[in-house]
Amino acid sequence: MTEPLILGIESSCDETGVAFVRGTTLLGDVVASSVEEHVRFGGVVPEVASRAHLEALIPTIRRTCDEVGHSLADVDAIAVTSGPGLAGALMVGVAGAKALAWALDKPLYGVNHLAAHVCADVLDHGPLPEPTVALLVSGGHTNLLLVNDIASDVIELGASIDDAAGEAFDKVARVLGLAYPGGPHIEKAAADGDPNAIRFPRGLSSRKDLERHRFDYSFSGLKTAVVRWVEERERAGEPVPVADVAASFNEAVADVLTRKALDACEEYGVRDLQIGGGVTANSRLRVMAKERCDAAGISLRVPRVRLCTDNGAMVAALGAQMVQRGLTPSSLDLPADSSMPV
Ligand code: KG4
Ligand code: ZN
Repeated sequence: MTEPLILGIESSCDETGVAFVRGTTLLGDVVASSVEEHVRFGGVVPEVASRAHLEALIPTIRRTCDEVGHSLADVDAIAVTSGPGLAGALMVGVAGAKALAWALDKPLYGVNHLAAHVCADVLDHGPLPEPTVALLVSGGHTNLLLVNDIASDVIELGASIDDAAGEAFDKVARVLGLAYPGGPHIEKAAADGDPNAIRFPRGLSSRKDLERHRFDYSFSGLKTAVVRWVEERERAGEPVPVADVAASFNEAVADVLTRKALDACEEYGVRDLQIGGGVTANSRLRVMAKERCDAAGISLRVPRVRLCTDNGAMVAALGAQMVQRGLTPSSLDLPADSSMPV
């Protein structure tokens, strides 16, 4: 018997994502992004994002159907991100998914966005080993998770207590006069710089901080350190070595992210680490994670970049796992929950 066909819908931030998945096979995946509309504001504007979802949702569903050669009548279940995320943005996807579930008389599954990011990995590498430690690093989230069961038992070990890792890239890019979103520009600038030129702080890493925040992150102090360093240079009338600052900043972020992730693997006796979220595109982070995992005998799973950023495929993938495990569907009064815990 073929596995059920799952339609996934994602609208928690600035990407309208729609995809079809069967089991762990991705059949088609279309993403309409409103990122260009946010560039001039230097960050995602919730109201602009909600309106863009409203315009993009139906055309994106149509395009995905055309791409995979399925009609909505073929769908067996609908999965939608119901949180966490921007409230207005989430509501567009949730309302659309409910309307479809009602009209098609098919079960609806509200999906957690963070767990869905982790689940994207099954589309590239097959079923997730359980338990797995997962590091999620994006513009909105920085979480260290212990995945005992991807559909029903994911525990948050730690999270950023201030800025998300991607947000730190975006803010530091602005300080260095680089464009939004900052991550790719910092990475490009860092290519010509010395990662050891400046020793920037690794947040929540002192012995005292580790007592309370063993698996938490903090990036606001790092951002402030970069700002101070740049300002001192400017005050002294000296040129700012953008490449060295970018490389040293990138190094500090990759160092603290991977160190705590590996510490979590050790603490919980887990042999698998999965990394996802838009910041995973960062090549220094990927290389450092691989080197440290190899040295510790831990196997590392990182999906292709397209599956690391927000998309409907990860939502459909998690929906498929929920169906496979016999979880009860959501009711048609499913709310959007902007601060939903994992
Ligand atoms: O997951 P994502 O596409 O969107 C959400 O935030 O949900 O992540 C976007 C974030 C932005 O902050 C962007 O600056 C960062 O990921 N990013 C990167 C790189 N590419 C994107 N950060 C570091 N290095 C990169 N190459
Ligand atoms: Zn995301």
